[in-house]
Amino acid sequence: MTPEPTPNREQIIEWLSQTGGQAAEALRAKAESLLFETCGRGVALRGLIEISNACACDCLYCGIRKSNRDVARYTLEEDQIVAMAKDCAARGYGSLVLQSGERRDRSFLDLVENTVRRIKAETQSEFLPRGLGITLSLGEQTEETYARFFEAGAHRYLLRIETSNPVLFAKIHPQGQKIETRLEALRSLRRVGYQVGTGVMIGLPDQTIEDLADDILFFKEWDIDMIGMGPFIPHQSTPMAGTLIPNAKERLDLALRMIAVARLVLRDINIAATTALQALDPFGREKALTYGANVMMPLMTPVSVRKDYQLYPGKPFSDEAAESVEKALERALTDQGRHLVLNVWGDSPHACARKNR
Ligand code: 5AD
Repeated sequence: MTPEPTPNREQIIEWLSQTGGQAAEALRAKAESLLFETCGRGVALRGLIEISNACACDCLYCGIRKSNRDVARYTLEEDQIVAMAKDCAARGYGSLVLQSGERRDRSFLDLVENTVRRIKAETQSEFLPRGLGITLSLGEQTEETYARFFEAGAHRYLLRIETSNPVLFAKIHPQGQKIETRLEALRSLRRVGYQVGTGVMIGLPDQTIEDLADDILFFKEWDIDMIGMGPFIPHQSTPMAGTLIPNAKERLDLALRMIAVARLVLRDINIAATTALQALDPFGREKALTYGANVMMPLMTPVSVRKDYQLYPGKPFSDEAAESVEKALERALTDQGRHLVLNVWGDSPHACARKNR
């Protein structure tokens, strides 16, 4: 079988521009059916634990940026994180994500390494002989640090590029963060051996459809294994409060189209239905699943600190591990002809194929 040619930039721009009506529905249906063909109908779960909201960065869009004095900073204890991980495993979530503000201080790096080791050792079971799958999302680190965490047992890493347009990247990161450093970090992750995820924010001020098309081509060029992306949501205590952006409905629809197009171009990768979608629409994540997404990340952060991890407003505080929520999710999936896949790591077919190459 000859491989399908990658859709070109013109085609991608046309897809992303399809607002409303039959054309948008046709795009959705095409992405959904390609997903079923390449990855099946399963939805994999990762429990999301936000281990610290302390951050060394001052990204203009982010609610936990260093300069935001309104945030009470926290760091979870090793025992607490391991207990949450065991809870994930007991619920059948085969993987988890440890996320945090960007920190490179020694005590934090030690905490991550020790926690990863313990989670791998203490969540082994007949279902998960090698313990939970662990994805890290801890920002830019040195290659040595990435290697240290990999050696401890993490095997996937999410590092969003935020936008692949260098001019726009510089505008939202004026405090000395460089796109080149981000790109080098993505290269380091690959060299170390991680499955690599990235993503962008959708609907940033001055971001064009062409920029978003280039983001998709960037994912393709960098042979990315997984994507997490969602709408930009201005946070009141950041310098980007009140910036001129498309309205919430337009941003949501655009984010859903981005997911569909990412599926059509990247085919067999994992795409997360991200929480930011839910902040704009209570069923935003469930909708994303019908546009080609295949991963859900139920929030497992202790309820007491959730209010302190508000990257953007409207981030839900609800207890996603609550039985009623899990039931509601299963019902929604059944209605879509989908099902949860439990007790597996849920690596993307794309990453598995690379390993075999
Ligand atoms: N709106 C939407 N997404 C945001 N993020 C940070 N701030 C915002 C915001 N205001 C996203 C970034 C970051 C991820 C952890 O959260 O893409 O990489």
